[in-house]
Amino acid sequence: MHKGLLFDLDGVIVDTARYHYLAWKELAQELGIPFTREDNERLKGVSRNRSFEIILEIGNRQMEEAQKEYYCTRKNGIYLEYLQTLSEKDILPGVQEFLEAARAKGYRTALGSASKNAVFILEKLKLSESFDAVIDGNKVSKAKPDPEVFLNGAAALGLAGCDCIVFEDAAAGIKAAHAGGMRAVGIGKPEILSEADYVIRGFEKITIEEIEQEIM
Ligand code: BG6
Ligand code: MG
Repeated sequence: MHKGLLFDLDGVIVDTARYHYLAWKELAQELGIPFTREDNERLKGVSRNRSFEIILEIGNRQMEEAQKEYYCTRKNGIYLEYLQTLSEKDILPGVQEFLEAARAKGYRTALGSASKNAVFILEKLKLSESFDAVIDGNKVSKAKPDPEVFLNGAAALGLAGCDCIVFEDAAAGIKAAHAGGMRAVGIGKPEILSEADYVIRGFEKITIEEIEQEIM
């Protein structure tokens, strides 16, 4: 019986994944680097710094550390502009209901995100109270597919990895969950999340009972 649920943030709880894409696209264009939605899949679940390195690799470009830092800060500025109007209305359909039902059933919940903006985003969404623990990009040193973020999430709930189910929209996050000994539910397209134990399009009409049944 699983006791803990670990949620990624961007693309699972809220559709901020598209704002990350738009912000990177703007910078890539400025740098003359072609950057498509397909390229963007490689950035999902990956830290800000590593994301920029991937973009530079795509463009076959090199850059000094200080300059990389400058662009990462700028990207975050553009991203935060998009988040200005973020509110409860932006929580993805079914997420709140799912969290409430699972918690009412006794599940403990944690956020496991690579984002350094996670606490700010949860506050904007008024969802801070829905998680017993928050592990974000400020608290981990190794990025997904390393399991650190989810193992820390499980530990913060007082649980072992095998007691937890992870919800993720990124292929790197599914790998991280499995590396931590957890079952993984993919949120999105089955062709991108082929390694997940079960794939759902989103939380709309999804019950914790269905997840329990599919994941056991
Ligand atoms: C992850 C996103 O959740 O957070 C990545 O999937 C993003 O696309 C990463 O790069 C870091 O986010 P932030 O908010 O710290 O730039
Ligand atoms: Mg994500």
